[in-house]
Amino acid sequence: MSKLDGKVALVSGAGRGIGRAIALKLAGEGARVALNDLDAGPAAEVVAEIEAMGGEALAVVGDVTADGFADKFVAAAVDKFGGLDIIVNNAGYSWDTVIQKTTDEQFDAMLDIHIKAPFKILRAFAGPLREMAKAEAEAGQLKNRKVVNISSIGGLFGNAGQIGYASGKTALIGLTKTLAKEWGRYQVNVNCVAFGLIQTRMTETFDDGKPNMHDVGGKDIPMGVPPEFVGFINKMIPLGRPGTPQDAANAVYLFCIPESDYISGEVVLASGGLVI
Ligand SMILES: NC(=O)c1ccc[n+]([C@@H]2O[C@H](COP(=O)([O-])OP(=O)(O)OC[C@H]3O[C@@H](n4cnc5c(N)ncnc54)[C@H](O)[C@@H]3O)[C@@H](O)[C@H]2O)c1
Repeated sequence: MSKLDGKVALVSGAGRGIGRAIALKLAGEGARVALNDLDAGPAAEVVAEIEAMGGEALAVVGDVTADGFADKFVAAAVDKFGGLDIIVNNAGYSWDTVIQKTTDEQFDAMLDIHIKAPFKILRAFAGPLREMAKAEAEAGQLKNRKVVNISSIGGLFGNAGQIGYASGKTALIGLTKTLAKEWGRYQVNVNCVAFGLIQTRMTETFDDGKPNMHDVGGKDIPMGVPPEFVGFINKMIPLGRPGTPQDAANAVYLFCIPESDYISGEVVLASGGLVI
């Protein structure tokens, strides 16, 4: 018997990096997973990996910031698996510059992905949640559900050069704390995990002074960090190393299991002890 047997999880941005590791971890612990990514190929690969482990998964490909997508995503999970117990708002990317170089389009894009998309996904779940919780209460079978929102040390402490990204990640903490108060009546634990430096596409080093360019929904977005920054941060991390996507997924998992049923509205850093 695994801890998440019988649970249904929804994970956004699960085609790569941390989201992929979360989807695999939750599936490995028994959950059926509705996973999303902008990119169909990576999403299909993660579904295949879960199926190869003997699990069940569904890919809901699309842009979590697009109008109407959140309702489609939540409905697809509920239709396919007959319920929804865990929502992980993970999809994200950085599009970084200092304030004077940040365009309106760029700032809006960061707020769209890091705060508006989680808001829309959780709002889309409000109706189904109320019905499920009401039926369970009438049957005398109350159960906890879990929301885990993915923030960042930049959201907690700010980070020079990430004016839009950090603003979105800070706003997500406000959403987490407020929803914990609104959905406590439905036995939903709403928490936030804020990562430090995790090794993914977003944080790959670049050597030639130029960021790595990645396609995000048809836009070429500069990502990555210079090696001198990684060297500096690694020295500042008390545990002495950056995190892996598995480290990140393990932290999220803690907020998905019954042992965290009395923890809500919290923000936990998974940063190897880094607090800047
Ligand atoms: N890597 C880190 O050090 C770090 C630190 C703190 C927080 N985070 C957060 O962790 C989350 C995952 O990032 P990652 O490091 O795994 O990056 P990643 O680039 O490896 O993976 C992110 C995934 O999200 C998808 N995605 C992006 N925009 C999307 C959209 N509009 N709709 C659907 N999918 C979309 C991408 O296609 C990609 O597969 C992000 O929210 C990020 O801000 C990462």
